[in-house]
Amino acid sequence: MDKFLIRGGKPLRGKIEISGAKNSALPCLAATLLTGETVTLHNVPYVKDLITQRRLLEDLGATVLTPELRTHKVTAANIQTFEAPYELVKTMRASVLALGPLLARFGQAKVSLPGGCAIGTRPIDLHLRAFEKLGAEVSLESGDVVASAPKGRLIGADVSFEKVTVTGTENVMMAAALAKGKTTIHNAAREPEIEDLAELLNKMGARIKGAGTDVIEIEGVEQMGGAEHTIIADRIETGTFIVAAAITNGELEIKSCQPEHLGAVIEKLREAGVDIEELNQSTLLVSCCARGLQAKDVTTDPHPFFPTDMQAQYMSLMTQAEGESSIMETIFENRFMHVGELQRMGAKIEISGNTALVSGKTNLTGARILASDLRASASLVLAALCASGETLIDRVYHIDRGYETIVRKLRSVGADIERIKDTMAMTAEEK
Ligand code: EPZ
Repeated sequence: MDKFLIRGGKPLRGKIEISGAKNSALPCLAATLLTGETVTLHNVPYVKDLITQRRLLEDLGATVLTPELRTHKVTAANIQTFEAPYELVKTMRASVLALGPLLARFGQAKVSLPGGCAIGTRPIDLHLRAFEKLGAEVSLESGDVVASAPKGRLIGADVSFEKVTVTGTENVMMAAALAKGKTTIHNAAREPEIEDLAELLNKMGARIKGAGTDVIEIEGVEQMGGAEHTIIADRIETGTFIVAAAITNGELEIKSCQPEHLGAVIEKLREAGVDIEELNQSTLLVSCCARGLQAKDVTTDPHPFFPTDMQAQYMSLMTQAEGESSIMETIFENRFMHVGELQRMGAKIEISGNTALVSGKTNLTGARILASDLRASASLVLAALCASGETLIDRVYHIDRGYETIVRKLRSVGADIERIKDTMAMTAEEK
């Protein structure tokens, strides 16, 4: 497995270009299954998870053309199977987003039940109960979710999520788009990615109102058509690079981002002493203010509050802040896997239940460490960038799932980072 070798202590300076949002491109690609006409998506990030999603669409029978690396032209006119196999789902649980569209358009779907992952058990019971509300019959057969619409078409209904779920909201929104009658989703997720998906679905002919609020209304339509859409910027990648500038005491101009999607993160980082200036609607200038970083408590919550996907990166920053900060994780029950690795670098962190207590400022030193999931690996890269000496991070395939060309981007602003290719996995021509 590839590794990253990082020599820390260099302030990052320069311009960084933000890619499209992984967590919007994934449901938007799934939405292409709702029509036989061509849907063109621009600004699709070139990351492992999107390559997996593309493979899923092609395995189902869709054609996916990429006239440019980040433009996908998808035509699901000739769907051969309604099954998302275990091999794919086990590598990317977001494959579950095929359930809603397949069930809505073809009245049947079979998707391997995603198992747990490093950050939690992550059941999809709320998705399945919602589909049953729309008239689907859902059963579990040898590890697969088998769903069908007995009347050949789903029926609009009131769905109320007992817990806010992002992909649950997205799955039901897509299913309800082709259902008979009206669906109302209560306690819906309000993430910007939900709004982006709704914008695409409405371009395809759906009738969705209220995306971005906790009540979404969907008037089902007979059929949907093709469309062209540009994916929003990745707010978590943006947040990660804001922290990269602050933790290295550097200065970065972050371009092609959408600050309005990062309100709670920017507010908290400013509170902690990070200077974040909006140069224009899509550019931030980030540096550390003279008084240095101050420890500030944070609690993760669904949007518009502080995102769980920024918790690990924020923790790395708090190791460099004066004072004690408490970081409470309320979304996933096991999202402190990075703590042990940060402690190996000298960080002072104590965990009690779903709260981590960070004491700073501590001088981190390089070490051999292990990435466990996407955002944890980002937090380790950030810690290594400010640590003295060399850090070797193993299992960086996690970071490749959601960060586009992160080594190239970091090197372009002065980071001393290199990818150590796994010679065993290297193909002949790479040797
Ligand atoms: C989405 O995951 C994101 N993934 C995650 O980003 C993100 O961490 C998460 O939302 C929360 O913001 C994508 O969009 C592809 P949830 P999702 O359903 O939809 C529980 C990253 O780093 N729950 O909102 O799977 C669940 O266990 C990834 O890019 C149920 O109990 O998350 C969790 O505790 C990681 N039953 C909570 O709800 C269900 O049926 C929120 O999960 C569904 C969820």
